[in-house]
Amino acid sequence: ADEPLVLGIETSCDETGVGIVRGTTLLADAVASSVDTHARFGGVVPEIASRAHLEAMVPTIDRALAQAGVAATDLDAVAVTSGPGLAGALLVGVSAAKAYAYALGKPLYGVNHLASHICVDQLEHGPLPEPTMALLVSGGHSSLLLAPDITADVRPLGSTIDDAAGEAFDKVARVLNLGFPGGPVIDKWAREGDPGAIAFPRGLTGPRDAAYDFSFSGLKTAVARWIEARRNAGEEVPVADVSASFQEAVTDVLTRKAIRACTDEGADHLMIGGGVAANSRLRAMAEERCAAAGITLRVPRPKLCTDNGAMVAALGAEMVARGRGTSSWDLSADSSLPV
Ligand code: KG4
Ligand code: ZN
Repeated sequence: ADEPLVLGIETSCDETGVGIVRGTTLLADAVASSVDTHARFGGVVPEIASRAHLEAMVPTIDRALAQAGVAATDLDAVAVTSGPGLAGALLVGVSAAKAYAYALGKPLYGVNHLASHICVDQLEHGPLPEPTMALLVSGGHSSLLLAPDITADVRPLGSTIDDAAGEAFDKVARVLNLGFPGGPVIDKWAREGDPGAIAFPRGLTGPRDAAYDFSFSGLKTAVARWIEARRNAGEEVPVADVSASFQEAVTDVLTRKAIRACTDEGADHLMIGGGVAANSRLRAMAEERCAAAGITLRVPRPKLCTDNGAMVAALGAEMVARGRGTSSWDLSADSSLPV
């Protein structure tokens, strides 16, 4: 039991996540989500998210401690997402982390949300290779990241120039009247559909386009236009085929660019993280294409891909293990924190 026992708090969006790890071993992963409250607004309402975090914070911490079977006084450190994310939501987590760390006399570690989406894979597949090549796809981000050191050096190779991949799923689901969040429902519908039924555009894949940047706004518009034309003609919209064809376009571009980045940088593995990494087609396609390119794929289980506290604890534990500096008591939330 030489490895650090770390509690991690995540409140960057609508999930109140509290996780506990010992080194790279997952002990607890408690998540309270306010997603149902946001659903009727078709997206996350920041003020509602902040209030929900405030209500869920202490009960979720208690739940995680009970799950792990440890006392708060046994902890070696408290880690918290300090950004990027919704400012008010982040503040609830940062304030709670400070209060617990200060009261317990334990060190505080503010961590980056994107880096922790990558680091969480250590809980699933053991220590990450260095450098780590990661494709991070969520509601707020779509980036290819190269991390020589997950605790201190994470370099963006490319990112979306408009919508994030998850945002595209959410917007297309809204046009199809499938509710929010859109990713999981489209994933489900797509299983019944034909991915080759409609040829939707693959953004930024031309020879003159930036190799590692993404664009999903044109795709979203193309899907919306296609649906509108159907509706205007009084025809039924084939939800399954639209879902499958849209999903195929997104996952095709994501995997193509990620594998190109691996080949260009000489990386023999690819880590995929963020909420969209829960997508079943993305997993299957990445598996297939990585195998063909001789690349080892690392994707955490879906529950560790979406926002959670375990990922924050995982990165906190790595920082403790590497002797990284702690955060001061004036740590604040930074909604646009870069990696
Ligand atoms: O990482 P995450 O939980 O939160 C942040 O955005 O940071 O990601 C949430 C996003 C949403 O846009 C949601 O629609 C998407 O991940 N998502 C999915 C799936 N599950 C969640 N997208 C596609 N397929 C899924 N199965
Ligand atoms: Zn996230």
